[in-house]
Amino acid sequence: MSIPPTRVLILGGSTEASALARLLAGHARFDALLSLAGRTRAPRPQPLPSRSGGFGGVEGLTRFLGGAGVQLLVDATHPFAAAMSANAVAAARLAGLPLLRLDRPAWTAGEGDRWAIVPDIAAAAAALGTVPRRVLLTVGQKELRPFRDAPQHRYLVRSIEPPDPDSLPPGATCITDAGPFTEAAERALLLRHGVEVIVSKNSGGTASAAKLAAARALELPVVMVARPTLPAAETVPDAGAALRWLLRHGAASSPAAAGSVAWPAPVLPPGTVTRAEAGAASSPGATADCAASPASEAGPLSGAERGA
Ligand SMILES: NC(=O)c1ccc[n+]([C@@H]2O[C@H](COP(=O)([O-])OP(=O)(O)OC[C@H]3O[C@@H](n4cnc5c(N)ncnc54)[C@H](OP(=O)(O)O)[C@@H]3O)[C@@H](O)[C@H]2O)c1
Repeated sequence: MSIPPTRVLILGGSTEASALARLLAGHARFDALLSLAGRTRAPRPQPLPSRSGGFGGVEGLTRFLGGAGVQLLVDATHPFAAAMSANAVAAARLAGLPLLRLDRPAWTAGEGDRWAIVPDIAAAAAALGTVPRRVLLTVGQKELRPFRDAPQHRYLVRSIEPPDPDSLPPGATCITDAGPFTEAAERALLLRHGVEVIVSKNSGGTASAAKLAAARALELPVVMVARPTLPAAETVPDAGAALRWLLRHGAASSPAAAGSVAWPAPVLPPGTVTRAEAGAASSPGATADCAASPASEAGPLSGAERGA
């Protein structure tokens, strides 16, 4: 008698979630669905069936878990996706499901690093001080508003998606780029723009760590936003360890009632290319004067600074 595959829901949006999706693609023991928040205009094609968009809070997620016959839940969201991670803990408890958090280790300061660790984005903006500085801002496109309260600085904003112009500090310059980045390219960027300080979330991982190595080499300070505190959950640091957890718990979970039932629609089959991907996405590394509001006191960047 063949054992029905275990139904797994992966809350994604991180490099590690994609790595786990690759490990589970075609795995005979699992029937896994990858869930994305739907914020990225051009998500990469996924090796697993996927869905996109919020569930409707704890209640909605709990209902989804029950309705879809999910047996194991993996929270593999980004370390700063605090709301989703808290919802996952609450919904797993309500649904009586084992939950695993896949959380890559945070970065730690080493010799030569000049970090000021702050608790949140507002504190990061305050930590830049009153004297005008040139700032590389790498906190994503969603959390730029606090920097509007520190308009004395000149910001180079790097994000995967272009920011909402209304959220930008005056006179900001934008780069859309998803990385991964090399230390040499990061050093060149910092020098080209005369960056004096970097603001970063403590995302961890390798894809965006090169800016920290470049800052160390150039003896630049970094304002590092500490990770949010999340409700306790069993945690592993990488996709391999998550697969081992799934194999252990899959063997223990009850046979899937939903083994032959389709995931609730709408589900995109593996490898789906979205319309956005088929069209022209913003070119990586593109630099543009993205400010909708008037330039800061320091004035707009010169053509040379705007560079390629
Ligand atoms: N925050 C960051 O710095 C960052 C960086 C890189 C990637 N990401 C990724 O971007 C997504 C959104 O991040 P965020 O910081 O806005 O999250 P968040 O504040 O924790 O979540 C806000 C809401 O978005 C929905 N959501 C988040 N992740 C989801 C997922 N994987 N599947 C379905 N719905 C999801 C949930 O809506 P409902 O309550 O309606 O279910 C959640 O309550 C996450 O998937 C995260 O992994 C975040």
